[in-house]
Amino acid sequence: MKLLFKNIKQLLQIRDNATISLKGSEMKELPKLDDAWLLVEDGKISDFGKMEEIPAFEEVETVDASGKILLPGWIDSHTHLVYAGNREQEFVDRINGLTYEEIANKGGGILNSAKKLQETSEEELYVQSARRMEEVMKMGTTAIEIKSGYGLTTDAELKMLRVIKRLKENYPIAIKATFLGAHAVPKEYKENKDAYLDLLVDEMMPKIAEEQLAEYVDIFCEKGYFTVEDTHKILAAGKKHNLIPKIHVNQFNSIGGIQVGVEYDALSVDHLEVMNPEDIEALKGSRTMPVALPSCSLFLSIPYTPARDIIDAGLPLALATDYNPGSTPSGNMNLVVSLACMKMKMNPEEAINAATVNAAYAMGLSETHGSVTKGKQANFILTEKIPSYGFLPYSFGANHIDSVYINGKKI
Ligand code: NIG
Ligand code: FE
Repeated sequence: MKLLFKNIKQLLQIRDNATISLKGSEMKELPKLDDAWLLVEDGKISDFGKMEEIPAFEEVETVDASGKILLPGWIDSHTHLVYAGNREQEFVDRINGLTYEEIANKGGGILNSAKKLQETSEEELYVQSARRMEEVMKMGTTAIEIKSGYGLTTDAELKMLRVIKRLKENYPIAIKATFLGAHAVPKEYKENKDAYLDLLVDEMMPKIAEEQLAEYVDIFCEKGYFTVEDTHKILAAGKKHNLIPKIHVNQFNSIGGIQVGVEYDALSVDHLEVMNPEDIEALKGSRTMPVALPSCSLFLSIPYTPARDIIDAGLPLALATDYNPGSTPSGNMNLVVSLACMKMKMNPEEAINAATVNAAYAMGLSETHGSVTKGKQANFILTEKIPSYGFLPYSFGANHIDSVYINGKKI
């Protein structure tokens, strides 16, 4: 089946196959074609060009994109979309003056979500998660990473990862799974964290590897959660099972997590709200993608990732939502792109690059996703009639999406 988009006002993010990620000043460029057509065949981008040179096509279904912009779908490389219930009481507690840390210390936070998830059946967890999946796809997300980490027991972690597996089977969107058993230390292990790390390494990881339930391994490297030494231990164990690191670092404190990530050739280091000059230095020359999560900063009222320092140092940057019940109960990439412009001083071109090409890199999908390239998956956002692409981040809080296509099919 062939699908032809005609009269596209602007076709964005045209790249050749060699573009893997964009760094520093490269991020300011967003290659585009005005007044364009694009042909989809068998779910992939087969060709595109200017309307004035459009060939005659037979037996194609045609979409008139007059006045509309076509761009690659968003790629959300960091989420915790599989979770049970919500934590709106903690939201109110924070409004009334408690900090994220104080809430966690009184049994709220990640342990609160873990308790809820342990008590929820796999079927119910799937139903709640599928609802969120459909919600984010409608908002333009066309590839997504999902973490475990609200189970914190072998059974509950496996339950989460099996739900992710079922989502992979039932939805057309590309999904990558991350094992985040080291998200928080369960109450029963409070005085014996090493025993919990042993459980992660000796019991959970081998099972996960055997069932092929995850591509990546993650750890929350942060004061009060897991140390730099713990991070070494988890990433080294992950390596044995071919689990590539993507880690939570520098959210509240800079304690050396980025350096460990780089040492283990992490695919990405995520959060980065608190960055020292040494942290930026450590990323130079590495293959590790820094990932910012601005809707987490908005929701928790914590600093935003210093995008200008990172990009102006010649580094790449990707954007993701962090969709989770505690720090970011939102999976809206459109808002993330707006926040990057408004709060992190990224230009619209930089923000769109960070949410497409660089985001694809951060989930190992550079070959198939993130740009308008012949042979890549036909994953697009078709906007409403809008004056320019800059209007997308400018009109924050609105999405201006006419339709979303995944593998050439309108969802
Ligand atoms: O990425 N920082 C660690 N984990 C999540 C939040 C977890 C929670 O509060 O439930 C995050 O922000
Ligand atoms: Fe997260």
